[in-house]
Amino acid sequence: MSLQLGDTAPDFVAHTTVGVIEFHKWAGDDWVVLFSHPKDFTPVCTTELGQVARLNPEFARRGVKTIGLSVDVLDAHHRWADDIRETQGIAPNFPIIADSDRRIAYAYGMIHPRHDELFTVRTVFIIDPRKKIRLTLTYPQTAGRNFDEILRVIDSLQLTDAHSVSTPANWHSGEDVIIVPSVSDADAHERFPLGWHAAKPYLRLTPDPRTPRQEFDLDASG
Ligand code: BEZ
Repeated sequence: MSLQLGDTAPDFVAHTTVGVIEFHKWAGDDWVVLFSHPKDFTPVCTTELGQVARLNPEFARRGVKTIGLSVDVLDAHHRWADDIRETQGIAPNFPIIADSDRRIAYAYGMIHPRHDELFTVRTVFIIDPRKKIRLTLTYPQTAGRNFDEILRVIDSLQLTDAHSVSTPANWHSGEDVIIVPSVSDADAHERFPLGWHAAKPYLRLTPDPRTPRQEFDLDASG
């Protein structure tokens, strides 16, 4: 059965572009984005790895490590890095796993044989500091991913882990959030002193609970 949300991310030892990594040990207390790409020296993958490298400071700011994977050998990863630097203006600044025996790809369900028998599809796993899988995504080989969306989900996961809220469609950090239905109005008064707007009894929108009260008062007064 494929890995599901809440499962422990399988541990592994792998050869990567920054040396041998013991996955859980390497992750430490950070969040991890583990993502597979189909093949080195291919166009969509080249743009994706450049984009992850550009966004890596944003991932780091959130306490997230990124790590890529394909079934290519280490030497190919290293040679391809030069092309990525040349064409994308930045080289990969995160480890890339050389999973040539497909051990990790199979453990994580990254090969979808009816799509491609040999090469990984575009998967993403967001893994929290307890090593639990918190998001999975699978994209076809022809569609490059939107890594801003991965950052957006990490913002949501980190916020909702800390507060009794969920985040609405297309939410971005700082925008209003939803008070979860299990919190009664009486409890909500305690937890959300800035108040809320109830479009329905089950749909209560409140300012991002990290908004300092002062800032909210200033915004509200125009
Ligand atoms: C690409 O990165 O462009 C690609 C890789 C494998 C299959 C299709 C496209």
